[in-house]
Amino acid sequence: MTTFRIAPSILSADFARLGEEVRNVVAAGADIIHFDVMDNHYVPNLTVGPLVCQAIRPHVQVPIDVHLMVKPVDRIIPDFAKAGANIITFHPEASDHIDRSLQLIRDHGCKAGLVFNPATPLSYLEHVMDKVDMILIMSVNPGFGGQSFIPQALKKIEQARRLIDESGRDIMLEVDGGIKVENIAAAAKAGADTFVAGSAIFGQPDYKAVIDAMRTQLAA
Ligand code: DX5
Ligand code: ZN
Repeated sequence: MTTFRIAPSILSADFARLGEEVRNVVAAGADIIHFDVMDNHYVPNLTVGPLVCQAIRPHVQVPIDVHLMVKPVDRIIPDFAKAGANIITFHPEASDHIDRSLQLIRDHGCKAGLVFNPATPLSYLEHVMDKVDMILIMSVNPGFGGQSFIPQALKKIEQARRLIDESGRDIMLEVDGGIKVENIAAAAKAGADTFVAGSAIFGQPDYKAVIDAMRTQLAA
């Protein structure tokens, strides 16, 4: 039986009350906190760094899943590991040495993953499957919350699920972008087990109602 995980993205949270926001969303049933890092270089937006990760760390016990949308990748990895990140993922196009970046994350005691934009092929996984703990399929182009789910992502989730099954390894398959109560079941059916949702959760007053509704869809 698949373990499904809901990973609210703090991108749509109230940044002036971030500690309270992450506590509330975990109390509402979140399994993971998804932490979007944007650098105004790899993506056209700027968010938060290791200091903010460190600041929210004492507020929650659940894993913090750091999604790096930055270039270069390597020099920020140790800082996030020290700031309490549990999972660190990066975009393969943003790293000159993908194997080295994955190894660096693991050497710092975190789970490592690769992120695939809508037009990025999964072939980047071919020689590094044994160093990957998470595969993150983007169902929007990265940079902003509140965009619409790109349906072609479902095919890619299916493809990634096949690769994971063939590997025989325990690899999380996460989907990120435009996930809502209405489409979470389709993403699960395609093979995703971890669901990032920003605006769908933080855009509603009752986080628990949204997370419960997502779980009902996943159980159906
Ligand atoms: C987009 C980010 C996402 C984003 C998701 O670049 O990686 O994590 O916050 O937000 P929604 O769920 O609103 O699409
Ligand atoms: Zn993200």
